[in-house]
Amino acid sequence: MSQFIINGPAKLSGEIPVNGAKNLALKIIPASIILADEITITNLPDIEDIDRALSLLEILGGKTEKRGSRVKIDTRNLNKNELPKDIANKFRASIMFVGPLLARFGEVKFPHPGGCVIGAGGRPIDIFVEGFKKLGAELKIQNDHYILKAKKLRGNTYFFPNVSVTATESLMMTATLASGTTTLKNCAMEPEITELAQYLNENGADIQGAGTPTMTIKGVDNVSGGKFHIIPDRIETGSFAIMAAATGSELTITDCRPDHIQILLTIFEKIGIKYQRGRDWLKIKRSPKIQPYSIKTHEYPGFPTDLQPPYTVLMTQAQGTSIIHETIYDRRLFYVDMLSQMGADTIMCDPHRVVVNGPTKLYNKKLTSPDLRAGIALIIASLVAEGETQIGNIYQIDRGYEKIDKRLRKIGVNINRSK
Ligand code: EPZ
Repeated sequence: MSQFIINGPAKLSGEIPVNGAKNLALKIIPASIILADEITITNLPDIEDIDRALSLLEILGGKTEKRGSRVKIDTRNLNKNELPKDIANKFRASIMFVGPLLARFGEVKFPHPGGCVIGAGGRPIDIFVEGFKKLGAELKIQNDHYILKAKKLRGNTYFFPNVSVTATESLMMTATLASGTTTLKNCAMEPEITELAQYLNENGADIQGAGTPTMTIKGVDNVSGGKFHIIPDRIETGSFAIMAAATGSELTITDCRPDHIQILLTIFEKIGIKYQRGRDWLKIKRSPKIQPYSIKTHEYPGFPTDLQPPYTVLMTQAQGTSIIHETIYDRRLFYVDMLSQMGADTIMCDPHRVVVNGPTKLYNKKLTSPDLRAGIALIIASLVAEGETQIGNIYQIDRGYEKIDKRLRKIGVNINRSK
């Protein structure tokens, strides 16, 4: 199993550009199914889940032509509406193909999606299924496959029982081709959702209210393709900003959107991390003393659950006590046990809350990354720690951070990948 070997402590310097947002790329690719047209996507991050999504599209009859961070997709001849178990089982975002296939073909067959272990009951999809049924689909379960059928989806009102990013995106895309008007309430408000809605509207859809808790989607007969540029990944931006803060480094983060991590920058001001910002760059200044500040993860624009693990590492270096409360997912504090093995002073109150006392020296350790965001947190911890740290299961990190070792070496990190 390949590993990262990292020598700390590290001082970062220079500039690091941010890639396109993984969690937007994983939606625009399935969205191309409702377009039944050609679409060119630029600023695509080069990570495994994207390749998975593109190969899934090809299995369904789509054509894809990827060159670096640009891909041309043609879904005019799509001819299959069943998600193969071996691929769909490997990544959660395969669920995003279900709605568009249902809207386009009136029927879709799929297994339960896979992906990170976080989330109760292995990443539930009850909210998706309820939403599709609200739009008139009928559900059958046949030997561990779901089959959804709907001659023609009909607009309706659906109140999300739990704010869900992918369920919001999925129902928004699907309702675009339903007959009549759909009102979605208690929607997620992530910037990626607003981007997606804006793109679909530029090409014939009629989606109002994206980025607010209530969306109204007027069904249309078709939506055409066009060019789509993926916005910078706000979680990469926040991860690099926290990495600089935790190592007391001065680092400039480019090709980013500081306005998409306003919550983190607001907390940086409270804890003494100095920074300068422009429209598409963020410069973290060397900040010797960090004050503790407790957080509770929350849907956008609140503190993102995906930045919780990196932020917890930062709090191990703060001058005092903080409480980290993970409200979105179960199992997203698994990595804290490894931080305490590295020397962090943590007390698990319950599966969702941990008390962190700082500052503590961290020491090198042999670690395994339990999930994507814990993986980058362990990298940050190893940059703070003394000595050589080994991190296994780095497939989980490669899934979300393109060529992360190569990019970190460019800003002064002593990191190597062992086969
Ligand atoms: C998206 O996941 C992101 N993934 C996650 O990023 C991110 O952590 C999450 O939103 C929250 O911001 C993608 O966009 C591909 P949810 P998603 O549905 O949509 C429960 C990363 O590291 N729920 O908003 O799957 C669920 O269990 C990944 O990049 C149901 O109960 O998250 C969770 O507790 C990790 N039933 C809560 O809702 C459902 O049908 C929020 O999950 C769906 C979700």
